[in-house]
Amino acid sequence: MANTVTYRQSMQSEAETNVPIGLITGTNLSAILGQHLRVIEVDTPFGAPSAAFVLTSISNRLIWCLARHGTSSQIKAFDVNYRANVWAFKELGVQSLIATATVGGINANVEIGDIVIPDQIVDYTFGRKHTFANELELASVDFTFPFSRTLREALNQALPDERPSSEQLHWTYGCTQGPRLETAAEINRMGKDGCDLVGMTLMPEAVLAREIGLHYAAICLVVNRAAGVGGKTIDIEQIPVMTSTRIPVLRDYLERVLQLIE
Ligand code: HPA
Repeated sequence: MANTVTYRQSMQSEAETNVPIGLITGTNLSAILGQHLRVIEVDTPFGAPSAAFVLTSISNRLIWCLARHGTSSQIKAFDVNYRANVWAFKELGVQSLIATATVGGINANVEIGDIVIPDQIVDYTFGRKHTFANELELASVDFTFPFSRTLREALNQALPDERPSSEQLHWTYGCTQGPRLETAAEINRMGKDGCDLVGMTLMPEAVLAREIGLHYAAICLVVNRAAGVGGKTIDIEQIPVMTSTRIPVLRDYLERVLQLIE
């Protein structure tokens, strides 16, 4: 934790006027980051986060960034040390945390390449270390609305207008365990449960952020149609290709978002 303290002391005057925002980048999405102003390792009571934290600046905002799956995307969603990651952001003085995640589209209105801001979650994961209840001596937290309303407002406002994803404000993200993708029947059931999107990473990240008092919201990039949607299977090789073609769009979008966040 020594590095964190050094950061806090040396950046105190800068931090007073520009509290850094946290950004967690999903699989193959670290390329949205700009210049690395600083790189630090942060230790936590839960062990090491997924990677070193990178300080960057976008739209004149300081941002602490973390690659959720490690620098070479080597950590699978079910193996991510979510508690260490979220705890470290709090230690760095971050108050607002934006997550990016690639997802499959279940709702027929969602197109591949869309950016969608979820407002609800259904959690299908199991066996993940999912709470700070013991360390923070918490009972239960209210999680009726799992994402920060104010962050979501900025994220929605910055969306390009031409897509239905910017007109519809209520999207539900279903979080599966992975690493395998879903069966067609599972996606059918998730659709009936009200899920519009499927991914593997926003839980327990979202609830840990809530437990530790961080404002948290997510930017989902649709990289495939979910299993069986339109009678089709998933072309796994197309997922990283799709992700990388949308990097410039995501980067522009993030610039607009950061201009809107107080
Ligand atoms: N399912 C689960 N996670 C995902 C998918 C999917 O179809 N696409 C991207 N992440």
